[in-house]
Amino acid sequence: MRRLGIDVGGTGVKGNVVDTETGETLAERVRIETPHPATPEAVADTVAAVVEAHSYEGPIGITLPSVVKDGIAHTAANIDTTWPGTDAVRLFSERMGRQPVFVLNDADAAGLAEMRFGAGAGRRGVVCVLTLGTGIGSALFHDGVLLPSTEFGHLEVDGHDAESRASYSAKERGDLSWEKWAKRVSRYLQVVENLVWPDLFILGGGVSKRAHKWVPLLDARTEIVTAQLLNQAGIVGAAMAAAEDTSP
Ligand code: BGC
Repeated sequence: MRRLGIDVGGTGVKGNVVDTETGETLAERVRIETPHPATPEAVADTVAAVVEAHSYEGPIGITLPSVVKDGIAHTAANIDTTWPGTDAVRLFSERMGRQPVFVLNDADAAGLAEMRFGAGAGRRGVVCVLTLGTGIGSALFHDGVLLPSTEFGHLEVDGHDAESRASYSAKERGDLSWEKWAKRVSRYLQVVENLVWPDLFILGGGVSKRAHKWVPLLDARTEIVTAQLLNQAGIVGAAMAAAEDTSP
């Protein structure tokens, strides 16, 4: 199936048409800066501009960096605080001229794509996908089936919200060396593995491009691999949701 996937991130709104049987992207990726403030209306305008740039008609999958249940956005850790309570499906479908719209959490989308086409393909058991970016997103799978809306980025680790210390933006904010940041990520992984005992961690987010600098420094009992779809994962997962209606 051909579906448009759109990934709404802290810095860019990115979209592409995806062959959901192969995971391949079929057009030029369109990226527009995320508006600031990233209010629902401003994001909807940007998403609409990405759709128009693709001259695409059909079901659209859209990610948000928040918990999404029954189309409603519930949290706003790294997006404008006016999102909680917003009916995101209604907002986007009205703005898009009522094309069918599916909205899901960004990490859940990235996880779906990694499990089907990337580092998790064929992996059974408990797989925990973590995206280390502006925040920390999580997607938990058992035998390939997603348990949606886990928010492991907000676990309390040594008295702190985990993503405030172990996200990639925490590394940048604190100007931390790879070694120092890897220590924090290790501590975080140890807390997660003691809670859900995964068989595999898949680590994604933009920083997975430079995995050789920090992944070998990590210390956890669980097997760790790097995400393979890099910055395409959210787009591909969003398109998969539009093809399969897996949006929670
Ligand atoms: C949000 C998650 C999101 C993650 C990555 C966290 O702060 O709570 O919903 O998946 O950031 O964007």
